[in-house]
Amino acid sequence: MTASRPSPLTLPSGLFISFEGIDGSGKSTQIKLLAQALRNEGLDVVLTREPGGSTGAEEIRSLVLEGDPDRWSAESEILLFTAARRDHLEKTISPAIEAGKIVLCDRFADSTRMYQGMSRGDLRTVVDQLHSLMIGREPDLTFIIDMDPQVGLARAKSRQTSEERFEDFGEALQAKMRAGFLGLAKEYPDRCILIDGAREIELVAADILSQTQAKIANHAVPS
Ligand code: ADP
Ligand code: TYD
Repeated sequence: MTASRPSPLTLPSGLFISFEGIDGSGKSTQIKLLAQALRNEGLDVVLTREPGGSTGAEEIRSLVLEGDPDRWSAESEILLFTAARRDHLEKTISPAIEAGKIVLCDRFADSTRMYQGMSRGDLRTVVDQLHSLMIGREPDLTFIIDMDPQVGLARAKSRQTSEERFEDFGEALQAKMRAGFLGLAKEYPDRCILIDGAREIELVAADILSQTQAKIANHAVPS
């Protein structure tokens, strides 16, 4: 006879955590480690990513991440990324939060604030206006993984995928994005935690886990 596995624990109000930082900073590595660590504690975790995370948004993902770097203007990209995010929020993120789950999201609106808001001219106001009109939600907690742009780009390039439109903008863009993310951490101190991504993978993971546990402790977990 096999013992039945207890159902994963949910939180009374769910928790929404995003990971941000330049390409190659270690977001995907760290988000998977955090998901595993929280699941080991019996918590109900949804691991998702942007652009993507729902069927419609994954279709938009290939439109924005593949092909010629000049394929879209920054303005068109804002619309595409926001359309993808709206679908992701409706189909994946909001239902999971309402069910009391912990949603871990690899990039969210801060990436649009940075990449479309800063990379080709100053479009930050447009990004923020569209965000409040169509999305209107921020994560409860955002880990910004900080990393030297040269190291980040070398790590990202070593992956060899077809999703290289943004990596093809090069090191100057990476440096600008890094400075932008550091600025965001100051702009939203209540939800952003800056993480030094230059350390060993395990050390970064332990740091992120302890900060997450502290956040969860503010949410009562039903027994
Ligand atoms: P991102 O999702 O931010 O683009 P990844 O997690 O995909 O970054 O990491 C990019 C590459 O760098 C991967 O090959 C990964 O194994 C490696 N990597 C991630 N974190 C570290 C680290 N702390 N030290 C060394 N290499 C790392
Ligand atoms: P991602 O798959 O997270 O790439 P990486 O693992 O290299 O960090 O994201 C792909 C690219 O999409 C990344 O270069 C940043 C870009 N991006 C935007 O430009 N705007 C956005 O709103 C999002 C979510 C991503």
